[in-house]
Amino acid sequence: MTEVNWDDKWRLGFHLMPPTGWLNDPNGLCQFQGIYHVFFQYSPDDPNGGTKYWGHYTSQDMLNWQYVGIALSPEEVFESHGVYSGSALVKDGKMNLYYTGNVKLDGDYDYIYEGRQGNTILVDSEDGVTFGRKKCLMTNADYPSHLSCHIRDPKVVTGESIGIEDENCYMFLGARTREDTGEVLLYKSGNLTDWELVNILKDKIPFGYMWECPDAFMLDGKKFLSISPQGVQQDGINYQNVYQSGYYEVTGSFDHEYQLERFKEWDRGFDFYAPQTFQDENGRRILIGWIGMPDEPSQTNPTVAQGWQNALTVPREIFLKEGKVMQYPVAELEKLRLSRHTFVSGCTSERRKMYDAEITVVSEDIKIVISEGIELVYDKTHEILTLSFDQEKNLGYGRNKRSVHLQSCEQIRILVDTSCLEIYLNGGEEVFTTRFYTEDGMSDFCVTEGDAKVTYWEMEGLHIDLSAL
Ligand code: FRU
Repeated sequence: MTEVNWDDKWRLGFHLMPPTGWLNDPNGLCQFQGIYHVFFQYSPDDPNGGTKYWGHYTSQDMLNWQYVGIALSPEEVFESHGVYSGSALVKDGKMNLYYTGNVKLDGDYDYIYEGRQGNTILVDSEDGVTFGRKKCLMTNADYPSHLSCHIRDPKVVTGESIGIEDENCYMFLGARTREDTGEVLLYKSGNLTDWELVNILKDKIPFGYMWECPDAFMLDGKKFLSISPQGVQQDGINYQNVYQSGYYEVTGSFDHEYQLERFKEWDRGFDFYAPQTFQDENGRRILIGWIGMPDEPSQTNPTVAQGWQNALTVPREIFLKEGKVMQYPVAELEKLRLSRHTFVSGCTSERRKMYDAEITVVSEDIKIVISEGIELVYDKTHEILTLSFDQEKNLGYGRNKRSVHLQSCEQIRILVDTSCLEIYLNGGEEVFTTRFYTEDGMSDFCVTEGDAKVTYWEMEGLHIDLSAL
């Protein structure tokens, strides 16, 4: 087991990160018997990834967290090369975890037609911490024959939560066809264990070769399908990362005739992938994404030398406003705010590790500079907002520039956490998430062009109990 390096200047304060080693997708998000559960893809011993386990954090308030330990390890033949991503269904007083048991066969396991098994596994829990016997529900032999061996990441929901008025539960499973197009299999079950294929969800024009980490939910009666597609070509300022994450609004019915409307990216930054949502006991739809990007060698993370890599976004509430899907940090985070400061079109007074800044933009154009090397610029003439790294200052370790079309820029909220930035525009109409690495792990920021009123707070970190390590 690698040791926690407490002196690491890039260690995060208010983002969940791996206690040691590597973290990727959030898994099994739920609130069960009042407690929030965040599981995550985890390789505790290797900051560059390796065999995947499920790590486990719990919290009552999303501020005080406990690292509970490894929840799921690859111990059965049907998951011998990794406990891959999946979800939690809370039903009849139990937490049911559905996930993919990954098995690499001898030979070329990345060959797409054979060489790998993606088994669908169920394990349940009465207390959310100890788990029963794992059951293998489906193997590759059970999936439709037009598919390659890449099938994974079950998201299980109730019919009611996706607008289907029956007592069944529904499973969305990510897939890659033999023709190299991404799609989602939709299964239903009345007993949590026997699953029947009821539909296949795909775009009218093929969109990428593989759809990972599907999710489905409703906001104010509208239906949405979220996916993380691989193999989508860059299109101008869109789809600039190696893989994407976004959602379609869905018209019609998931289990019958449906249509996927325009795909929209969840986040426009450099480091965001494989988000998952859940509904909490207050009825909020909350999204957590992975701050990281697989298979992107040009963007590196110097934290590897400190024994860890990647993090999770803060929990974001998602909701509709004037027909648009908005994302905004859950209100609980405001409890981490310490002393409050304000300025008009100036600078922060000193370098600090953690800030939460609310910026009301008064002029049409605006330029904000974070730590002399990261610029956030809104250009009203072209209606483009750009986040860019000065390549000479190298705070981005390979990250360069990302942009989004935005009709106006009126409000900006910036969460600065040591080596993570989350930037929310106009109350969450667009979001940019990125890693960045200053020499001292601290930042300042200035409004250098245009006029803005800035209120910012120093932040304290989450309270995380790591005694289970
Ligand atoms: C997405 C993903 C999933 C898979 C998991 C493995 O980042 O590739 O499709 O289940 O990561 O760690």
